[in-house]
Amino acid sequence: MEKYNYGVIGLGVMGRNLLYNIADNGFSVAGFDLDAEKARELEQGATQNTVVKGTASLEDFVSALETPRKIILMVPAGKPVDAVLENITPLLNKGDIVVDAGNSYFKDTERRIAELASKGLHFMGMGVSGGEKGARTGPSIMPGGDLEAFNLLKPMLESIAAKVDGEACTAYMGKSSAGNYVKMVHNGIEYAIMQLISEAYDLLRKVANLNNDQLYEVFKEWNNGEMNSFLIEITRDIFQQKDSLTNDYLVDQILDKAGAKGTGKWTSEQAMEIGVSIPTIDIAVTSRILSAYKDERMKASQLYSEKQIIAPENIESFIKEVGDALYLATLISYAQGLSLLVKASEEYAFDIPLKDVVKIWRGGCIIRSVLLEKFYSAYTQNPDLSNILLDKDISEIVKSKLKSLRSTAAYAVHNGISSLGIQTALGYFDAYTTESLPVNLIQAQRDYFGAHTYQRIDREGVFHTSWKSTNN
Ligand code: 6PG
Repeated sequence: MEKYNYGVIGLGVMGRNLLYNIADNGFSVAGFDLDAEKARELEQGATQNTVVKGTASLEDFVSALETPRKIILMVPAGKPVDAVLENITPLLNKGDIVVDAGNSYFKDTERRIAELASKGLHFMGMGVSGGEKGARTGPSIMPGGDLEAFNLLKPMLESIAAKVDGEACTAYMGKSSAGNYVKMVHNGIEYAIMQLISEAYDLLRKVANLNNDQLYEVFKEWNNGEMNSFLIEITRDIFQQKDSLTNDYLVDQILDKAGAKGTGKWTSEQAMEIGVSIPTIDIAVTSRILSAYKDERMKASQLYSEKQIIAPENIESFIKEVGDALYLATLISYAQGLSLLVKASEEYAFDIPLKDVVKIWRGGCIIRSVLLEKFYSAYTQNPDLSNILLDKDISEIVKSKLKSLRSTAAYAVHNGISSLGIQTALGYFDAYTTESLPVNLIQAQRDYFGAHTYQRIDREGVFHTSWKSTNN
């Protein structure tokens, strides 16, 4: 019996599309899903002349694969992954490879690597970004962990990944669960950029009074220039989408409560855990939480209804400033996420190659943008940059947009338009670029009430003072 090169478990939209992508690139693939219907239908959706087979049981699936078996899991993160592993590992042989391509939590991946290694099996965590379409036509793929297993998969991964200038958007992201970690941070940055775009939209619709057709034009222009990116592109298109129920613009019919599956929250938790400042990502996570207080927000808006918007003198230049502010705040969000990767790489001994991270984010993934080309050049010159803001060429871009970020932030503040992402991007920048922060005072307070000690600027050591109360 002819054996299949790859196996995919989980034939939801993402799994099925990834499977078809592998098949389109000349590999034979078997698929399995608990829902037998999905496996039965698999062959119908495949490209003609590709070799695809849906299997009816895990046993059939496993025995259909060539050895060492190369199995990709595309099941929801968490318990479903453990359930699949529990069922499949007794059927596998030493040397077989299981790749988890879902948004799994990196610590779960570490545990699973150890569990499978004890049975002589290779387990890898691999981030995949690009949504349904990307999975089929070329995602950005972030594999990490077992190098031996990675090298076996590499030719396939390179053929199915998105390409930028002929280069595949996949590379080895580092040891252990680095693949999941990099994908988690990707999503954190995704949250921040989406938050920032939504704030720019709010300013344009409330201050510049732009309607959806005009918003479409603005985003189209932005996407045609230096702001070209997947998220700007889809936002442009959203403004043109009509609702089939009301025939109005769909965006205006959508309730302003944002959902979240959790990867953004993990990113923030991680940053707190290992001591990295990523406030724009944090605020993007918490803004989605705040958006859910719809009833309270409605009551509060009645109570504090005195907000008055003063239109800017020149609408054209206001729009330009908002664009520049969005561009710079986006850059600062990437800087925060990348700085988290730098620290995590040390903390967990991942050895994450930052240059390759930005290289493979240039195409296929949700946060792809032409700006990443500039980061790629920066890391090519200096792979050890601790923060992209320290790069000379990047600093020139930052300086050219800073005035716009300040005026946009100020405009939003003066007019009572919530712009948490824009404010925190600017606040982070100002703190990061300040030689002398006022936290000497915080240290004094801590020492005053808690004897927590402090360091001095003029000599080494740790000091404590018996602070004098001036209470009489
Ligand atoms: C991607 C996406 C994808 C998904 C996330 C975000 O890279 O293809 O990031 O992984 O959209 O799960 O979802 P939430 O916004 O629901 O957290």
